[in-house]
Amino acid sequence: MAVLEKHKILETHATLLLVVSLLVVSIGGIVQIAPLFYIENTIEKVEGVRPYTPLELTGRDIYIREGCYVCHSQMIRPMRDENERYGHYSLAAESMYDHPFQWGSKRTGPDLARVGGKYSDEWHVQHLVNPQEVVPASIMPKYGFLLDRPVTPEFIEERMRTDALVGVPYTEEMIANAKADFAAQADPEADASGLTDRYTRKEENGVVTQPFPRTIDIRNFDGRPGISEMDALIAYLQVLGTMVDFSTYEPDPKR
Ligand code: HEC
Repeated sequence: MAVLEKHKILETHATLLLVVSLLVVSIGGIVQIAPLFYIENTIEKVEGVRPYTPLELTGRDIYIREGCYVCHSQMIRPMRDENERYGHYSLAAESMYDHPFQWGSKRTGPDLARVGGKYSDEWHVQHLVNPQEVVPASIMPKYGFLLDRPVTPEFIEERMRTDALVGVPYTEEMIANAKADFAAQADPEADASGLTDRYTRKEENGVVTQPFPRTIDIRNFDGRPGISEMDALIAYLQVLGTMVDFSTYEPDPKR
């Protein structure tokens, strides 16, 4: 009875009821939301996912600038029809270094989460220059101008530092070598061992491991001299969804 009497105080004072309700809801909210800030807890660790190289990161910025996301999603849902069409469903870890993520919700064109390796570089050039030449019924716009726009890694260090600020593990060494790595990836004649080492090997307490099995694509992506926006965009498209080796991947049974 005494408890009910006390409760009556709450129920008969609207302002007090409001304050106490807010207090209870806030506690509930904090308990639910606070752990999400510790991203390690929410994303399953998956082998193979590495930060983008400077050239891929530049291509990703061009992808965003051109609004490719308006027509293309990058998230394969865990449903049979999607898995048969696009491949293994997307893992949270696969976009953990994407700021902002490109999941999207609108699919005027197909999902691109696993488009990497699906087509040759030449196919991409031809398709981006004139989509209707490759797929006659396509309503995708033409992006041929990207071939004529040279791209320089002018702000790449700042760009990488910004990502590092929000948790992408770019090291000082990666940032210091960003311009050289940018150029090396688009030049098959260049010595790209530094680039490959930085983005596929890991050194912890003097122990060198190879946690990123996916090799770095080092090519002249657009087939023309110089580094164009087309080179950067295709370097990005070709890495999409290819970092995790799904022949050995097993989901964590605790999740
Ligand atoms: C107006 C909507 C639209 C925009 C904007 C758009 N696309 Fe597309 N895209 C499509 C459609 C529709 C298709 C399917 C027909 C085709 O292959 O052209 C497609 C197909 C593709 C494919 C082939 C996918 C596959 O699995 O066959 C790629 C790659 C692609 N687009 C990349 C891009 C990139 C990169 C951009 C930005 C530079 C872009 N798209 C912008 C509509 C769009």
